Amino acid sequence: MTFEAIKQADQSYVLGTYGRFDACIVKGQGATCQDIEGRTYIDFTSGIGVNSIGYADPDWVAAVSHQAGELAHISNLFYTTPGALLAKTLCEKTGYARVFFGNSGAEANEGAIKTARKYSFDKYGPGRSTVITLVNSFHGRTVTTLAATGQDVFHNYFYPFTEGFCHVPAGDFAALEQAAENGVCAVMLEFVQGEGGVIPLDQDYVRQVYDFCKQRDILFIADEVQTGIGRTGKLLASEHFGVRPDITTLAKGLGGGLPIGAFLVTEELVPVMGPSTHATTFGMNPIVCAGANVVLRKVANEQFLKEVVMKGEKIRSCLTCIPEVESTSGLGLMIGVKLRHKKSADVVRECLKKGLMVLTAKDKVRLLPPLTITDKELTQGVQILWDVLESK
Ligand SMILES: Cc1ncc(COP(=O)(O)O)c(C=O)c1O
Repeated sequence: MTFEAIKQADQSYVLGTYGRFDACIVKGQGATCQDIEGRTYIDFTSGIGVNSIGYADPDWVAAVSHQAGELAHISNLFYTTPGALLAKTLCEKTGYARVFFGNSGAEANEGAIKTARKYSFDKYGPGRSTVITLVNSFHGRTVTTLAATGQDVFHNYFYPFTEGFCHVPAGDFAALEQAAENGVCAVMLEFVQGEGGVIPLDQDYVRQVYDFCKQRDILFIADEVQTGIGRTGKLLASEHFGVRPDITTLAKGLGGGLPIGAFLVTEELVPVMGPSTHATTFGMNPIVCAGANVVLRKVANEQFLKEVVMKGEKIRSCLTCIPEVESTSGLGLMIGVKLRHKKSADVVRECLKKGLMVLTAKDKVRLLPPLTITDKELTQGVQILWDVLESK
């Protein structure tokens, strides 16, 4: 099929919920990919934080291909080696007691919300079911996670949204304290608001909220769908903040390119989610888990994570030399770039024309390169961004 034919078929038959760039990507290696017409791109997006170890990592490809030839799917009524191994490694590396596997970030958050509500119901009975989230947060696109998302722009059309969410401004502890007076079972937050503009939370604020939650037996849920699995230079971003959330949700980078979501719980929450409380057909798929095992083996490594930090610092220090860049934000390889004059959407389009993929987050340019990006790819990508930002 030619590019024009592909575009035509896509536009004719796929529901138009996504804007698309004018390229059909066919393959990739490391942090570099190629479109159907042979153009190459340095990828500073990782498919929105998913391709954590780059395109076609040989170990990941071998594990996934081998597993596809052995057993692609079996219902989760049976044990599988990749699933059990992934659960064990994930819990051991993060210090959590148990994990539930689903297929996406929104689903991971749904599971976390269910766990928090049931924990509270079991202990205190009905009426203590509200989840506090932060203004400008993003937690997913299901009806419940849209309700959890603290951005009014998402609270449209799809009424009625799930009840029992309350949004308070990030950094305003007094507002959270006040909101917690009425029937609250959990606080859910992103340590770095990703879609909201790559904005890290204040350390002291996080600590204050965490201590408050402990005092009130309110569960602290960390949405690490975007920040988790090495993205910020730690396996979990919570390590930067010195807190141990009761529940941590993961997705995106965990699978290295295949769909997975997960929520991790502490020992205390294990009895809350017993038989028949939660399930999903595709959860813990053996191929997906085989790939995720490779991701974890590579990323949950001190030297690897140190390099993520160094790569992030290198990009930041280059960016701050560009006159058009007002400031940078984020942690590790999750980078927001605030511009002085240019529009971020225009910059994304111009970069793509010149062979660099970048994203927007609100008014910022957002960079989420693969954690394995090489120095050469990183330098090439920053040079393109520099040229675009400095062009008249
Ligand atoms: C912090 C956060 N939570 C949840 C989600 C939803 O994840 P998914 O699109 O996999 O459902 C996203 C997606 O961008 C996210 O960034």
